[in-house]
Amino acid sequence: MNEQIVILDFGSQYTQVIARRIRECSVYSVILRYDTPAAEIAGLKPKGIILSGGPSSVYAADAPLPDKDIFALGVPVLGICYGVQLFAQFLGGRVEKGRKREYGKGVLAVRDATCALFGRLPKKLQVWNSHGDKLTKLPEGFKPVAVTDNSEYAAIENRARKFFGLQFHPEVVHTPRGKEIISNFVHGVCGCGKSWTMRNYVDQAVEEIRRQVGREKVILGLSGGVDSSVAAALIHKAIGGQLTCIFVNNGVLRAREAEVVREVFGKHFHLRLQYEDASKLFLKRLRGVTDPERKRKIIGRTFIEVFQAATKRAGRPKFLAQGTLYPDVIKSVPIGGNPAAMIKSHHNVGGLPKKMKFALIEPLKCLFKDEVRRLGLELGLPKEIVLRQPFPGPGLAVRCLGEVTPEKLQVLRRADAIVVEEMKAAGLYYKTWQTFAVLLPVRSVGVQGDERTYDWTLAIRAVESQDGMTADWVRLPYDLLEKISLRITNEVRGLNRVVLDLTSKPPGTIEWE
Ligand code: XMP
Repeated sequence: MNEQIVILDFGSQYTQVIARRIRECSVYSVILRYDTPAAEIAGLKPKGIILSGGPSSVYAADAPLPDKDIFALGVPVLGICYGVQLFAQFLGGRVEKGRKREYGKGVLAVRDATCALFGRLPKKLQVWNSHGDKLTKLPEGFKPVAVTDNSEYAAIENRARKFFGLQFHPEVVHTPRGKEIISNFVHGVCGCGKSWTMRNYVDQAVEEIRRQVGREKVILGLSGGVDSSVAAALIHKAIGGQLTCIFVNNGVLRAREAEVVREVFGKHFHLRLQYEDASKLFLKRLRGVTDPERKRKIIGRTFIEVFQAATKRAGRPKFLAQGTLYPDVIKSVPIGGNPAAMIKSHHNVGGLPKKMKFALIEPLKCLFKDEVRRLGLELGLPKEIVLRQPFPGPGLAVRCLGEVTPEKLQVLRRADAIVVEEMKAAGLYYKTWQTFAVLLPVRSVGVQGDERTYDWTLAIRAVESQDGMTADWVRLPYDLLEKISLRITNEVRGLNRVVLDLTSKPPGTIEWE
């Protein structure tokens, strides 16, 4: 059995982030319910236990409490936030409502640098707090090792028993050196080696998918985006021909999109790919429609219709697989809640009608985007797919303003391909969040050769972003912009003007629509 850390989940929105930090230390961890019996935990032979934070107060009547015997397993324990208050509750300390809530950035002053958690770290650290209750009396055998302005017990330890408590959150990015604190715990205190790799993750996920699916069939809506592609490759590795992927050509795909998906998944992976060319149907329904919301609705509805018919042809599988990632899962885990109720429907396959009764498989739902990308590379997917930029479900329809016509789509596809090609050649494509072309149905006068033209306008949109919620426009080099502009006006008929979008989000959005 792999060396592992057990994380007991008391409902913190950061529990998965703790697991992620431990993966970053190349150590395996499992997240278990807060009240998992100590005997069951002992059976896993964990090298350490982490008690997550949580929204409750330890003295509330319905506070989630662990099996008290976990403190007698002889295993190192790290309590984070609510987790440290549990120590106090169980081992004879005291927790009270703090006079002021400690929320946000704080400065931690390490008083005892010999504490194993702070090895090789400076004496002053920026940390992130999020708690109302406060530890006011330490349990027997504990001593404070670090303080903040608001708390004399920001970090505590019982060195003999290897019990540690942190009032702040070491797992979040706002505690910049927090990962080293976690590394000190898992490697230094618990003695874990670095045995956990993406390959182990694949093996384990494969085993789990096989167990869940048995001999049943699985269907997956493959968009060619990162998430559905990685989910497809992973599930295919687990169950091969039991998986059918449905790729819908909705008529508003980018240049070569359908070919790439067919090449990679059909020819290279030999995956059972059901290619549904519904482009004519989509374009027919979009005819004459200019309102962006209506365009989206038509595409969404038509997608469901086409997908539904396709699943019938695929033999009505029992399972629907989705590439839901951790950030797509609603953040806070209600204690005792039904996890299925918390799954957000996927953006692109989103809103499948209730009557389509599927059991869900979501093998990526504990992972973050960058981990999914690494997983994709581990599974042998090409960089072109694994590192691709986000692309909206309604495709080029949102980048082709006004009515979507085959003629406009053809112009936009060509221009967009040039933008992407030149960005790649300049080594900038994979460094920006999104870079694409938008077709503006605005005609203006130009001159080409001796001829006067009256053609459309193309906007170049390049943005930098962390998560798509906010974005800044990218200062692309003039030489590159010149090259893109020249190529577009020379090679794409129907365009005589190229402009650059200098708007951030807010006030703009990333897509134009
Ligand atoms: P906006 O335009 O709202 O976009 O700033 C934010 C991010 O979301 C992407 N986007 C979508 N993604 N289906 C998707 O999967 C959609 O319908 C959709 N609409 C926008 C957009 O590309 C950007 O990354």
